[in-house]
Amino acid sequence: MTESAATPQTTPADAQGPDLSGVRIALIGAGNMGGPVARTFLSAGVRAENLQVVNSSAASSERAAAELGATAAGSRGDALEGADVVVLGVKPYQILDLASEVREQLPAGAVVISLAAGVTLAAIEQALADGQSVVRAMPNTPISVGEGAVGLMRGSVVTDEQHELVHALFAGAGVAVDITEEQVHAFIGAAGSLSAFAFVIIEAMTDEAVRLGLKRDLAASLVQQTMRGAATMLTESGTHPAVAKNGVSSPGGTTVQGLAALEREGVRSGVAAAMAAAAQKSREMTGE
Ligand SMILES: NC(=O)c1ccc[n+]([C@@H]2O[C@H](COP(=O)([O-])OP(=O)(O)OC[C@H]3O[C@@H](n4cnc5c(N)ncnc54)[C@H](OP(=O)(O)O)[C@@H]3O)[C@@H](O)[C@H]2O)c1
Repeated sequence: MTESAATPQTTPADAQGPDLSGVRIALIGAGNMGGPVARTFLSAGVRAENLQVVNSSAASSERAAAELGATAAGSRGDALEGADVVVLGVKPYQILDLASEVREQLPAGAVVISLAAGVTLAAIEQALADGQSVVRAMPNTPISVGEGAVGLMRGSVVTDEQHELVHALFAGAGVAVDITEEQVHAFIGAAGSLSAFAFVIIEAMTDEAVRLGLKRDLAASLVQQTMRGAATMLTESGTHPAVAKNGVSSPGGTTVQGLAALEREGVRSGVAAAMAAAAQKSREMTGE
């Protein structure tokens, strides 16, 4: 196996890529995930007039487009006409019906990006016309601040140029990484659902800091800054987390007392169980 085959392509936030100013996007479903994806594309260089949004009603399309600084399409057909990229941001149970409905309207050279969890490339390709390019994208919500992660799964007929275009669109997401459909379940545990687990842990830490006597805004800023700083320290230094943890642990000191309590309370196994449950649910949604 060559090094390039063994190492998945990743897109760092500052990656140089194709010029996106003329790329036309149709976003069908600008909700909790479609919205942040649209913002990521705009931050990557897509122009507002080239990002056409369609929701389930005209009023909803206009509201979403105004919030995003994009353009509300007059109709689904208007959005799809001449689109280079079509993002399907509806719920998983809707996506195959939607794919069937739009199959005749899709420009042949357009690449379709599905955000739907648990719906395979094969199922989406089957609902679309033969030869239509499809990419599955599995983002997490921190992409909305450029600090998220997106797993990209490449369909069977995606060209290298389309693959490069999709990476360029997600370049401002944080990190965009190529994964296989087998890896997506682990990806959901380690990134897609992980942001929610992080929010719960941060909430618990903040609540305890308040119980210990700090005002809530101070507690929130200390916890968030320390969690962010700990992650940045590991990223920038490449240090193993256990080594970083040992660096805070004086013999008989405060940290080791806290760490012993953390292990007794089963935090490590609780985190592992949450990630495993998310990955297992992802497998079940895919019918595995
Ligand atoms: N939320 C996450 O963290 C997350 C993470 C990874 C992947 N995903 C995936 O992202 C997809 C969307 O999830 P979500 O959480 O963003 O759902 P959501 O907030 O409910 O958004 C769904 C959007 O689809 C629109 N819509 C529904 N039916 C439509 C139709 N017939 N034509 C055009 N637009 C239609 C809705 O518009 P109205 O508001 O007008 O009804 C809404 O804007 C799902 O497939 C999910 O698996 C979500």
